[in-house]
Amino acid sequence: MSSSIPSLNPPHRLLFGPGPTPVAARVYEAMAKPIVGHLDPFFFQINEEIRPWLRMVYGTTNPFTMVLSGTGSAGMEAAVSNFVHEDTKFVVFIAGYFADRIAEMGHRQGATVVRVEKPWGETFTDAEVREAILRERPTMVGYVTAETSTGVWQGGNAICQAAHEVGALVIADCVTSLGTMPINVDATGIDIAFSCSQKGLSCPPGLSPITVSENAMNRLRARQTSNRTWYLDFKLLDEYFGGQKRYHHTAPISMFYALREGLALIAEEGVEARFARHKANHLELVAGLEGLGLKMLVNNPHRLWTLHTPIIPEGKDDMKIRKYLLDQYSIDIAGGFGQLAGKIWRIGLMGEGSKKENVALLVESMGKALAAA
Ligand SMILES: Cc1ncc(COP(=O)(O)O)c(C=O)c1O
Repeated sequence: MSSSIPSLNPPHRLLFGPGPTPVAARVYEAMAKPIVGHLDPFFFQINEEIRPWLRMVYGTTNPFTMVLSGTGSAGMEAAVSNFVHEDTKFVVFIAGYFADRIAEMGHRQGATVVRVEKPWGETFTDAEVREAILRERPTMVGYVTAETSTGVWQGGNAICQAAHEVGALVIADCVTSLGTMPINVDATGIDIAFSCSQKGLSCPPGLSPITVSENAMNRLRARQTSNRTWYLDFKLLDEYFGGQKRYHHTAPISMFYALREGLALIAEEGVEARFARHKANHLELVAGLEGLGLKMLVNNPHRLWTLHTPIIPEGKDDMKIRKYLLDQYSIDIAGGFGQLAGKIWRIGLMGEGSKKENVALLVESMGKALAAA
């Protein structure tokens, strides 16, 4: 029977915003493969293939490394709700939108949240984080490795060292860094890390890879109260994905296929080669944008290799330029928001999008858009 309703025909956008990022054909093909049930041995086999690759991109040997059904915010909520509660003093380093979201989640769990703040776009120095942690003596600390609202990389060594000195655990948001920049969870000392599928891993949105240290798992096992968020309770999730394979929820099978293929592509490329590719394309894009007369919001060495934040020049119309890029080139970049609304653009080069030819295309199209505006 022929259908009278035309089938779906989305535009082919060039996704150079903060995510989602371009998806490889192999990943799309995986999503069209027949699904199995969420308790099928094949589904658990896919999970067992995924986990070592996740350890590789996170830089960890944590046994508790798994995938949550939900976007990056689910990973954030899982990290917070499992470890932050009424008895928690939670220090959060905030210099952008997503760190603020972590603090808000801590607040909703009933914790005593201490917001250590700087203007958006700045980083915390080692001395600043140390002073704050030793002064507050929290039980949990949160920070964002790659702040997508600003384009800033925040190093975690000093945070983790000071936190561990006072017996606190550290939650790190790795949503815009996983698979593109070295996170080195173990060497840095991060206890709980979360990310998403739609940025550096170049899959569609919908999954959140997480990893939790043994130390943190011991803290969780000793927790006397239940996680208030049933869906994201690590103890229950471990019974599904871990030993017992007990039903917890109906996992989105096709997304797990996608992630399996996205990670296989990373394993084939090699993580070090992948990081080097992102760095090289990042440097080339910055040089190209500066060649157009644009200034970057973030100074070296705090720039992300994934997300570039040039300042919108005086007199240029943010919306007009983005519309020009979309209409003329089908290029999707993002503007700033919050404290940086109308002040910066956010241009992503992540995963499949981080290619030399894309750098050239972005510089050429930005040049034309600036001239046209
Ligand atoms: C740094 C950071 N944290 C958390 C999130 C939330 O992730 P999601 O939108 O996948 O829920 C994002 C989304 O862009 C992000 O950039």
